[in-house]
Amino acid sequence: MQIEIIPQASLAQALYDDIVALCTRAYEEEFGEILAQFADSTHVVAYLNGELVSHALWIPRTLIYNGTPLRSAYVEAVATEPRYQGRGYASAVLRALAGAITDYDIAALSPSDPAFYARLGWERWRGPLAVLTDKGVVPTPDEDVMILRLPKTPPLDLHGTLVAPWRPGEIW
Ligand SMILES: CC(C)(COP(=O)(O)OP(=O)(O)OC[C@H]1O[C@@H](n2cnc3c(N)ncnc32)[C@H](O)[C@@H]1OP(=O)(O)O)[C@@H](O)C(=O)NCCC(=O)NCCS
Repeated sequence: MQIEIIPQASLAQALYDDIVALCTRAYEEEFGEILAQFADSTHVVAYLNGELVSHALWIPRTLIYNGTPLRSAYVEAVATEPRYQGRGYASAVLRALAGAITDYDIAALSPSDPAFYARLGWERWRGPLAVLTDKGVVPTPDEDVMILRLPKTPPLDLHGTLVAPWRPGEIW
């Protein structure tokens, strides 16, 4: 297996189309519009014998922890081609991703399978979550967020408050 890390601006259209198709099959949901929302993303792709088998991306996103801004790498579109699932590819992609984002203050994501990420060192946020809108800070109590501590992550209390800037689509 071969892993590459590719900023969106350097991504060939054919590979972008392959990523959309892979995510669409893995999530069983049309992913073109979803992926298009993630401006300034960096993609982590895994190939097996030249075939795209797994993907994740991160976007830069400032999160506010107890009032302090943290430069976060916010992870999205973690997906493995269905017939290649359960062989460690997404785990390898996420480990490579974690090694590539050490300049950030923290990594974060919204998990659909928390146990998968917990095994890789991600921790569930225990405290209040909220979104910053033009009407102020609005709680998002039904959301689930996990964080990954990075070398530059300051001491964190997982019971603190974490606020994300508003964005279209899924807030977290
Ligand atoms: C979630 C997802 C990305 C995982 O991808 P994957 O490549 O199958 O992930 P891995 O193989 O690294 O790990 C998956 C499981 O297989 C197990 N596994 C890993 N390598 C294995 C191997 N060689 N043999 C057997 N099992 C293995 C892992 O223990 C893991 O088990 P767990 O989920 O109980 O912790 C994939 O299932 C997917 O694309 N799902 C649909 C899209 C989605 O929901 N993505 C977001 C998830 S929040």
